[in-house]
Amino acid sequence: MKGKIVICEYISTGFNYIEDVLARGFEPVLLEGHYPGTELEINFYREERKRINEKYADRLEIIKESDDYEKTLAAVKAVNPLLVIPGAEFGVPLATRLASDLGLPGNPLSRLKAMTEKDAMQAALKEKGLRYIRGKIIHSEEEAAAFYDQLGVEDIVVKRCRGGGTAGVFMCHGKEEMLAAVKQSFLEAPKDESGKNDLEIMIQEQIKGTEYIVNTVSCNGKHRIVSAWVYNKVKMSNGGNAYNYAMNISRLKTGHSRLCRYALQVVEAIGIKYGPVHGEYMIDDKGPVLIEVNCRPMGAGLQRKFTERIFGHHETDVALDSYLNPQKFEEDDRAPYRPDEFGAIKVVILAGETEVKSAPIMQIAKELKSYFSGFYAGIGQTEILHETRDLGTTGGMIYLLNKDENLVKNDCELLHLIEMKYPRIFFQNSDYEERFNTAPRNILAVIEECHCMGATLVFSDRADEDFGDVKVTDSKNLTEAYNSYENGILDISRAESYSDLESMIQQIFVFFKKIRRGGRIIVPESTWCHLPYGIDGMEILMKAAGHIVELPLARMPELLISCVE
Ligand SMILES: Nc1ncnc2c1ncn2[C@@H]1O[C@H](COP(=O)(O)OP(=O)(O)OP(=O)(O)O)[C@@H](O)[C@H]1O
Ligand SMILES: [Mg+2]
Repeated sequence: MKGKIVICEYISTGFNYIEDVLARGFEPVLLEGHYPGTELEINFYREERKRINEKYADRLEIIKESDDYEKTLAAVKAVNPLLVIPGAEFGVPLATRLASDLGLPGNPLSRLKAMTEKDAMQAALKEKGLRYIRGKIIHSEEEAAAFYDQLGVEDIVVKRCRGGGTAGVFMCHGKEEMLAAVKQSFLEAPKDESGKNDLEIMIQEQIKGTEYIVNTVSCNGKHRIVSAWVYNKVKMSNGGNAYNYAMNISRLKTGHSRLCRYALQVVEAIGIKYGPVHGEYMIDDKGPVLIEVNCRPMGAGLQRKFTERIFGHHETDVALDSYLNPQKFEEDDRAPYRPDEFGAIKVVILAGETEVKSAPIMQIAKELKSYFSGFYAGIGQTEILHETRDLGTTGGMIYLLNKDENLVKNDCELLHLIEMKYPRIFFQNSDYEERFNTAPRNILAVIEECHCMGATLVFSDRADEDFGDVKVTDSKNLTEAYNSYENGILDISRAESYSDLESMIQQIFVFFKKIRRGGRIIVPESTWCHLPYGIDGMEILMKAAGHIVELPLARMPELLISCVE
């Protein structure tokens, strides 16, 4: 081994550092830091860290941050590291301090406030004459009211001065709403042992525009843009500002070059010398403005293979170049920005408190043409998921990737439509009453009316009945069935077949694949009446599989028919 590299907080995308460090012949040492935040918020991070620790426990050294900084310093010094780097937000202060005290390359400790505290970031921009957002740390409702009057704008953001995952962020309209949010923030804010707020509360004027991400990596004060994304966020009725999706920018459009130039100025104004900065910006009619910088790799749990297919590199690896291989960093910086695939990070929004008996979302997402991977927070661990407010309360993330931008966008939109309007087909709950519906059933009449003349497969939960000349399969034999039928009839008419909705939907997708391109899928009412949202529910499954939904037949309009693309 060439030496040791301490990774301070190694969750989310920062997780990639572990294998990247190993791949370069160095030994990673994992440093567990302290998380500020409420129990509920912290739990999300702790669970992830626990999983990573389990994976590496017998191979890598894990150091735990002590309450006494000197002890942590001594423990880190004892491994004689070449670098101490942060992998995630809450590792930034500790890693910066340790690197500085050990004389290792990193960012100046004197800039730590500007790197981590949202008011100090904006102050650093103001000082350099760059556009900034007006805001103030407040300690009381009176102070908030006075600053509101001074700002002279209607729309305000109340948020924590430090933080992540949108926890404790309130978008408010008018003074009353702002004061209510301030009150709630003081109540909810995590407290330290003496009962004092652990995280300060600030208010800012609210910017109205499109939100972007510009990620940079710096090497000895030289900054390089490595990736840019555009966000789509949605305002929740609970006041939250939830992530919907982010898509990478593949070619700069008008206004983007100005954004990127501003981002480079921001990184310089913050005082960054080494490593990655994940910057969030908004563009409004006045141009770009910083929301916040996070001086660590972008989050969202990005797998390196996902990022590489979009940008041709992944950020943690570029960051290691900045510390270990400045010459390579310099050479790669000359390459043009040419992402050649479109990636989207779709965050699963829970539109209300959600009971999860089974999670068909996992099967539905997998069918999408641009599906890359997905993870689902909390599913399987708990039956009730909370309504989405912030990143800690999402249902998970689905990663989409394709050469065709529209396809990725449409897949994102379909997922968003389902989560907001048809959530019970994503998450099965216990009062799933539609499956007790019934409708008249006559499969022979369907076969005749639809002129099913070529090879026809009926997938049925009454497979022992007589269906004439067509081929019939039940769930036991479905997997083995021939996979090039011209017509497929879905005849699942027993309510009990849907008791595990996820598994039923999975089988429906297997059945879909038995029908050849250009072939038809025919679903009678006696089948679709059992799905959540009935015919709409069935259409959603067809859309997820990429089918074209056909016009209804005049003589049997209750049949839902799709064409396999
Ligand atoms: N002043 C503002 N004007 C408009 N929108 C804002 C403002 N401040 C925050 N937001 C919105 O709220 C989101 C979360 O705020 P911020 O990034 O400061 O908090 P965070 O907890 O660090 O969030 P995350 O880790 O999710 O990025 C921003 O991405 C942006 O959409
Ligand atoms: Mg943010």
